[in-house]
Order: sequence, then C-alpha cells, then structure tokens
Amino acid sequence: MACPVNNTVELNPTLLPLEWLLGTWECDEPGEGSFPTIKPFRYTETLHFSHVGQPVINFMFNAFHAESKKPLHRECGFVRMQPGTNRVAFIIAQNSGLVEIEEGELTGQQLSLQSLQLARTSFAKEPYVKQICRVFQLRSDGKLEQTVSMATDNQPLMQHLRITYRRS
Ligand code: HEM
Repeated sequence: MACPVNNTVELNPTLLPLEWLLGTWECDEPGEGSFPTIKPFRYTETLHFSHVGQPVINFMFNAFHAESKKPLHRECGFVRMQPGTNRVAFIIAQNSGLVEIEEGELTGQQLSLQSLQLARTSFAKEPYVKQICRVFQLRSDGKLEQTVSMATDNQPLMQHLRITYRRS
C-alpha cells in the first residue's frame, strides 16, 4: 500500500508483514468497555495507521462516547518491527497521561502485545495501570478486532475493551 501522506513513497520492506494494518478503520458497531470497578460502557473508535517510507508505522486512535459522541480516550504513537523477526513494538502516548511500550509477536494476521514499560504523569489519577495486554486480529471476514486487558493497583488482569472495525 502506498503512503497516504505522500503516495509516491513505497512501504519500507521491513513493514510488509504488517501491511494489512495500514489505512483507516471505523468500528462497525459500538465497542464494549468494562472493568470490575466501573459501569460497563459503549464507545466508538477510529484507527489510523500510516507510514512515510520509514520502517515505522504511525498511528492515531480516537474513541468517542457511543451516545453523546464526545471525545474520550485518545492514543497515538509508532509501531516498529525488528527486521527479520516477528517481534513488534508499539510506542504509545495516551491522553490520560499514560505512556507505554508494548512488545509482542506477529503470528499471521494476529498481533499479541504486552506492556513492557509504563509511565504516567506525577499527578495521574488512581488506580494506576500496572499491566496491559492487547491483541489485534484481522479476521477471516475482513474485520479487525482489538481487545485490551489491564491490571491496576487493585484489580488483576481483566478485559477492559473489545471492539471490531471495518476498513473505511
Ligand atoms: C476507566 C485505563 C482505553 C473508556 C479506566 C480506568 C483505567 C483505564 C485505569 C479506571 C479503572 C478503575 O477505576 O478501576 C485504560 C487504558 C486504556 C484505556 C490503559 C488503553 C490501553 C479506553 C478506551 C476507552 C476507555 C479506548 C473508550 C472510550 C473508559 C471509561 C472508563 C475507563 C468510560 C470509566 C471512567 C469512569 O467511570 O470514571 N480506563 N483505558 N478507556 N475507561 Fe479506560
């Protein structure tokens, strides 16, 4: 796929195994959010994955309240792949003040990631996130699914988010 910023730039060959992720994805129905300590909620989300010819994918995720449409969670960052391997790293900044590095493996069209490093602003609200596990999977029906689990100060690892997207 050519770069959406400058369509003369070819995809860096390092990223060929992740080509299926590139582009814009809109949720096809509201995603489900939950955690033992909060009220279950529904949200919509748009994902953008692009490149500028570097061996790096740039991404932006913007989530909204399903009913009020108000902006909620936002994340942006970079995806890197270790050349010649299936190791993938996500370098992420979140609007909540959390920054994280997740690493994991690409198996076919499934990416399973675990947080390696987490940091937050000195005035972040509790509870603090202790661990994040995230899976992206391109399903056989062409939809992309993302699930996110997290552990906090006071809860063990449990699912927080599940959502599916169609390419737009
Ligand atoms: C609550 C983390 C993504 C919506 C929370 C809480 C944490 C958290 C730590 C507080 C849990 C508690 O009080 O015990 C994260 C992390 C995310 C993420 C690490 C990404 C990796 C999202 C996304 C949405 C979202 C994409 C979509 C809208 C919410 C909502 C609450 C919540 C609505 C409840 C807020 C409240 O009741 O005060 N999240 N979140 N989160 N999150 Fe997320």
